[in-house]
Amino acid sequence: MEIFEDLVIESNRSIRETMVVVDQNGRGICFVLDNGILVGIATDGDLRRALLRGLTLDNPVSDAMNRNFTALPVTSEDKLIRQTFSTRLKIIPLTDESGKLVDIADVQRSHRIPVLEPQLAGRELEYVTDCILTNWISSQGSYVQKFEFMFEKMHPEMHAVCVSNGTVALHLALLALGIGEGDEVIVPDLTFAASINAVLYCKATPVLCEIDPNTWCIDVLEIKKLITSRTKAVMPVHLYGQICEMEALRQVCEESKLFLIEDCAEALGSSWNKKIAGTFGDSSTFSFFGNKTISTGEGGMVLFRDPEAAKQARILRDHGMSPGKRYWHECIGFNYRLTNLQAAIGVAQMERFPEILSKKLEIAERYNALLAGVPGISRLPFTQPNTVHSNWLYTVTLVPNISRDELMRRLLMHGIDTRPVFYPLHEMPPYVNFKRSDKLLNSKEISICGLSLPSSVTLQAEEISYIATSLVQELSNC
Ligand SMILES: Cc1ncc(COP(=O)(O)O)c(C=O)c1O
Repeated sequence: MEIFEDLVIESNRSIRETMVVVDQNGRGICFVLDNGILVGIATDGDLRRALLRGLTLDNPVSDAMNRNFTALPVTSEDKLIRQTFSTRLKIIPLTDESGKLVDIADVQRSHRIPVLEPQLAGRELEYVTDCILTNWISSQGSYVQKFEFMFEKMHPEMHAVCVSNGTVALHLALLALGIGEGDEVIVPDLTFAASINAVLYCKATPVLCEIDPNTWCIDVLEIKKLITSRTKAVMPVHLYGQICEMEALRQVCEESKLFLIEDCAEALGSSWNKKIAGTFGDSSTFSFFGNKTISTGEGGMVLFRDPEAAKQARILRDHGMSPGKRYWHECIGFNYRLTNLQAAIGVAQMERFPEILSKKLEIAERYNALLAGVPGISRLPFTQPNTVHSNWLYTVTLVPNISRDELMRRLLMHGIDTRPVFYPLHEMPPYVNFKRSDKLLNSKEISICGLSLPSSVTLQAEEISYIATSLVQELSNC
């Protein structure tokens, strides 16, 4: 699959031929190459000015192109790429060390194939416009209730409270269940830092638990070894969309009278024996950050089984203000509210959720078929019986002698962005001293050799094939 054939031309081709390319790609620009090396850029304007200067349509484009152009190394941080865009510069060529054109960033995508991008293909714009036209842009407004209602419908027996992000959802879950100083909360060693930070915000003590080598979720047998008289809750994280062993987890929590708080930030729609993630425990949390399965830009949701806990979370979300007495504060609360504008996007995303989930499953199936048995890949995502793994991020592990970072760099040269697995919490400075499982070998191993591939619902079948082919090719070079 040629990646930008409609945007490039060789430097010895004529101005006429270049005009045809620019006309057909509709972008008003063309990148001029000399054996793959980017030597110039020709815009509509450059070509017009060249003709006005007296050049003819038969002159080579190298006479007309602009040699003083902006390009960035393909390995540049996304932030630098984003900052380089301006009202005049909406497309940026990305080159390798030799100056070869390997990718093109535009205002919507920093790489041709990003790891994850939202798909706002439903009624998002219509609903946001409605908020603006009706003047309900703050956290009051009908979309906030609608969004919560949709979550309640999808997660039976749970009461939904939408909040400003997935981290504060965890914070409110812990606070509303009364967890605080002196309490221990067991968290997996392999997760995003928000899981442990939320415990620390409550002044409770996190305890780091080993993960299962297959599911990469918290190891239930290890949890049992960590329970003490101070343990108050277990916080499993359904990592990358893989659902934890929920029956066994529920049993452990029931036996030891512990709260079960599911971190579903990465697992909207995953299920275990047809029971959906987020409905197993006392509380569950979700994130709607830009890269999540559904997105509101920033946003989150916390669900509670106990309606009283949900009521308390609403009070805490709204500065601790009494629901029946305005400006009377019953406790020290927070402003953790979601805006109506964000909820409007959430409602539109939820309307399309069945389609989004089935696309996620289809992407995983395609990757599974293309990558099974490929040398260099030690494991594809594990399939547990009777579960739905929503595959927020399709993540594989590499055999130990492959340099993952070198592989990621090489894939960037194909315009493919990838992502390493999280670092184990116990290795990072703020968390080194917390109590933990005797051994944390699985979290360490997965962290070193795990690689997440592009998983956006916008991916086309040909792109998945292109990613798989590029991966296979580069695996043999690393
Ligand atoms: C497992 C997990 N928990 C919590 C969060 C926090 O969500 P947010 O970024 O919306 O605060 C994330 C987000 O990436 C996550 O992956």
